[in-house]
Amino acid sequence: MSRRMLIAGNWKMNGDAAQVDAFARDVTQGSDSLSADLLVCVPFVYIERMKQGLAGSRVALGAQNLAAEVDAGAFTGEVNGAMLADTGCSHVIVGHSERRAIYGETDAVVAAKADACVAANLKPIVCVGETLEQREADETEAVLGAQIAALFEQCDAATLAQVTIAYEPIWAIGTGRSATPEQAQGVHAFLRGQIADRDATLAQSVQLLYGGSVKPDNAAALFAGADVDGALVGGASLKADSFLDIAHAAG
Ligand code: PGA
Repeated sequence: MSRRMLIAGNWKMNGDAAQVDAFARDVTQGSDSLSADLLVCVPFVYIERMKQGLAGSRVALGAQNLAAEVDAGAFTGEVNGAMLADTGCSHVIVGHSERRAIYGETDAVVAAKADACVAANLKPIVCVGETLEQREADETEAVLGAQIAALFEQCDAATLAQVTIAYEPIWAIGTGRSATPEQAQGVHAFLRGQIADRDATLAQSVQLLYGGSVKPDNAAALFAGADVDGALVGGASLKADSFLDIAHAAG
């Protein structure tokens, strides 16, 4: 089965109004000829501004987090999926390693947030990945296998059908040290196998993104992996030119 390529930008807690405007203008001009799907996930407060800047372009909008609670109510400071859908988002990054490590999001929270996405007709991009210590102790497959198992145990089937998985080795995030194409493809094949053990049809269709220091100069080699269906891009998504160069590498 041929899967579409998705290039998703993760701005993290970066950017300001001027940067949103410049990015939207440049990416709108430069993305017409691309065949990959494009998505940019900006801080909540800039989603509306980015939407206006991207009007008429083929770039989709996403958020980087959402509340696990589905229904509106007394949850000060939180943003639920319905609000994100209402604002024009199609995707939400869920369980990024920074949210797991800094904000204590457990596999159970990540699964609840993935379910909350789908309850609001949003697609969750669920992040998995191992630390450097875990990789060096040869625990990569055990760690990733447990993260996938938790997702399948805790999410309902409707959610699983909508999930995109982003493999982000924590040692490669923001370090300039990407996984090699062989490492990325090896892990993606392992992840697809884990999914196939539970649902062979889903394993064929599920998009597996690679994330961690994806740049214009390493993107094409990473995308050559048969099980690599695109990228979740942090630093290089903050400027339209590098984001578009990565998207071009995806075809
Ligand atoms: P990076 O971040 O591309 O800056 O390494 C990727 C991510 O954390 O999603």
